[in-house]
Amino acid sequence: MNHFEVRDGELACEGVPLSRIAEAVGTPVYVYSTATLERHFTVFRDAMAGLGRGEPLIAYAVKANSNLSVLKTLADLGAGADTVSEGEVRRALAAGVPPERIVLSGVGKTSAELAFAIDVGVAEINVESEPELERLARIAADKGARAQIAIRVNPDVSAGGHAKIATGKADNKFGVSMAEAERLYARASNNAGLRPVGVACHIGSQITSLEPLEAAFGKMRALVERLRAEGLAVDRLDLGGGLGVPYFNQPEPPAPSDFAAMIRRTLGDLDVGLAFEPGRVIAANAGVLVSRVIHVHDRPEGQRFLVLDAAMNDLIRPAMYDAYHDIQPVRPPAADAAVEAYDVVGPVCETGDTFARGRPLPRLASGDLVAFMSAGAYGATMGSEYNTRPLAPEVLVRGDQYAVVRPRPTYEEMLAREPLAPWL
Ligand code: LLP
Repeated sequence: MNHFEVRDGELACEGVPLSRIAEAVGTPVYVYSTATLERHFTVFRDAMAGLGRGEPLIAYAVKANSNLSVLKTLADLGAGADTVSEGEVRRALAAGVPPERIVLSGVGKTSAELAFAIDVGVAEINVESEPELERLARIAADKGARAQIAIRVNPDVSAGGHAKIATGKADNKFGVSMAEAERLYARASNNAGLRPVGVACHIGSQITSLEPLEAAFGKMRALVERLRAEGLAVDRLDLGGGLGVPYFNQPEPPAPSDFAAMIRRTLGDLDVGLAFEPGRVIAANAGVLVSRVIHVHDRPEGQRFLVLDAAMNDLIRPAMYDAYHDIQPVRPPAADAAVEAYDVVGPVCETGDTFARGRPLPRLASGDLVAFMSAGAYGATMGSEYNTRPLAPEVLVRGDQYAVVRPRPTYEEMLAREPLAPWL
């Protein structure tokens, strides 16, 4: 469920018509709904409540949507943060997430990033390889500190979905094998600079079936039991993110309540604290990208291009993962209006800058507004300034108010970031 609905004849975010934001802020523009963010987080949190030892840590995956106002909205509800860089840790802290709710993951954390995480005192550094374990132990020892770590395990499970976002197969770059995890956990337990608090996994993103997750969690359970049998303490099991969302034309993914029931079945009696790293399921349907039609290019040969002012630099998912985003006219036409098939494209100089081919849409004309739905996760965060197009601004709505929470940079600001080499 989300809070983008037609009201008084046009698409609105909560109480604010999208056209009002488009007029005031310009297009393309990302628009986020506070009510949807809050709803998705509380539904997830409430579904997981009571699972495992103590209250589960719900560490929102910052990479999905890292706008500070989005983070603060979630932090105010008690969300932690799953981060993958020093920058993301800094964002989480700036938004008020306490260090004891921050998890740091990633296959290639630099020594500076590890040192920073130790200084901040994050809840858990997810160690993804033996060289990283050794480097972290040295950095912690130099500081006279003890880093709280989890070993990120690659459970060798195929999660389905797009190959570019599957992470849990043995040939993916993430984590270590079950056997390695056992050895490294024991090694870390004997190291004065490290305190292993648990084990972690994350098998992919946009997962629409519980089966691969259940298979992975079963393997993680067995690992926890083996570690405990060796006399090692395992306080936390971090189950990662990955729960998919409906992108309009796909099978309905499992609800958080189904996910929770599966966890109760698989891990219910394990007596371990649980952590989750949901990103997409919180943010995707809480945001849209609003764009204006530049013109319609009707080829005499029959092809019809809908040329928008948004491009692959603003929303790269269709170009990168062949992802489907529903496109809705901001002013829906009459029910009997003609529908036409459009190739929906942006202005960037690449054929890959195509959002959809042959998409049936009501007849549109220059100046009309459209909204890319489900663009709140991995939309703005993956944006770039390719073709020297300014980053799309971000707007947060709450009831009948809205605020620009990241302005569009001016061309002057963009050019000023690049000092000329002194010899030029
Ligand atoms: N935890 C870890 C360690 C991750 O690598 C990820 C996502 C998450 C949590 C959050 O997963 P989620 O709940 O959002 O599925 N850019 C791609 C998605 C990349 C996901 C990367 N890792 C896309 O637009 O589909």
